[in-house]
Amino acid sequence: MVRPSGKHTSARLLLICIGLLGIALVADLFWASSPRFTSSYLSQWPSLDKSQTSFILPSKTSEHEIPRKEKTIRYKNETLAGRILSATFADLPAPELKWEKMAHAPVPRLDGAAIQIKNLLFVFAGYGTIDYVRTLYAPATQLWRGRLHVMGGSKENRHTPGLEHWSLAVKDGKALETEWRTEIPIPRGGPHRACIVVDDRLYAIGGQEGDFMAKPGSPIFKCSRRHEIVYSDVYMLDDDMKWKELPPMPKPDSHIEFAWVIVNNSIVIVGGTTDKHPVTKKMILVGEIFQFNLNKLEWSVIGKLPFRVKTTLVGFWDGWLYFTSGQRDKGPDDPAPRKVIGEMWRTKLKLNS
Ligand SMILES: *[C@@H]1O[C@H](CO)[C@@H](O)[C@H](O)[C@H]1NC(C)=O
Ligand SMILES: *[C@@H]1O[C@H](CO)[C@@H](O)[C@H](O)[C@H]1NC(C)=O
Repeated sequence: MVRPSGKHTSARLLLICIGLLGIALVADLFWASSPRFTSSYLSQWPSLDKSQTSFILPSKTSEHEIPRKEKTIRYKNETLAGRILSATFADLPAPELKWEKMAHAPVPRLDGAAIQIKNLLFVFAGYGTIDYVRTLYAPATQLWRGRLHVMGGSKENRHTPGLEHWSLAVKDGKALETEWRTEIPIPRGGPHRACIVVDDRLYAIGGQEGDFMAKPGSPIFKCSRRHEIVYSDVYMLDDDMKWKELPPMPKPDSHIEFAWVIVNNSIVIVGGTTDKHPVTKKMILVGEIFQFNLNKLEWSVIGKLPFRVKTTLVGFWDGWLYFTSGQRDKGPDDPAPRKVIGEMWRTKLKLNS
């Protein structure tokens, strides 16, 4: 016979399970970034023509005239003109590459960081699920001429772009100064850009203005998505200490902080996110590899990834281009973000000369 205390325990266990399931569902909804967001966005587009796609509900045949009801289905990918805009319209033509799937990383990782030292690619930080909420927000950071430069990013609310740029002298992992020096502000602020030093020049590439923002007073630190604009801009700082604007990327690209390597005086950038779908407002991931040839100051699209993916961590060794981590798309026909991955892939890198 089951003792009452046992019953009590199993009832409590059941409650805990239901509770956990509830939390998981809420997290999932939150993660999938909500139809609520989409509809509130769509309401800002009142001129969407609702009558474009309509059909007549089959009425039951009977002697009595049943008034025919007209029901309107509005596809979220319709443009103002009623033309259907493919979800994959942002993909660029790119050479097919042969990819090899390598050993899986120990954990899936989103918004991680990476550094390659010789033939070792170290990946760290980031998170696997939304349960780990990030705090300080994504400024571009790079070591340049003995100083740690920090610029742009979002203000504390994660949304408002910051143009500030500071630097601090560092040596052997220690700060040599007690105060940050104010440097020339970056022409455009915002998080998620690539910040790269090549040949004694500092480059800030892509990124975006705006991001998810904390909901005031939310007990579970919930965030809501805000208006975001993704940029293709390239800024460069050299001896003049004045930002120079260089040719833009082939398309706007964000979430590329560690998604790059330098090979033969070219910057190679893997994946990212581009401007959202203009009608559905869904986030669109990038499935191409870009090359910025620093001798010619020219961009090109040098290949297709095995899938679209953002915040990849990238390395190069012995002719091979490697990437791991990040968040991949829902499938070939749906470039919206889905799974956080720990997969590792490589391909032979072929650069344009
Ligand atoms: C547009 O959306 C509808 C409904 O979601 C879908 O059936 C259709 O395939 C989409 N068309 C394109 C071109 O993506
Ligand atoms: C880089 O340059 C070297 C020397 O010209 C060449 O052998 C190599 O193939 C180049 N690497 C790539 C990835 O193009």
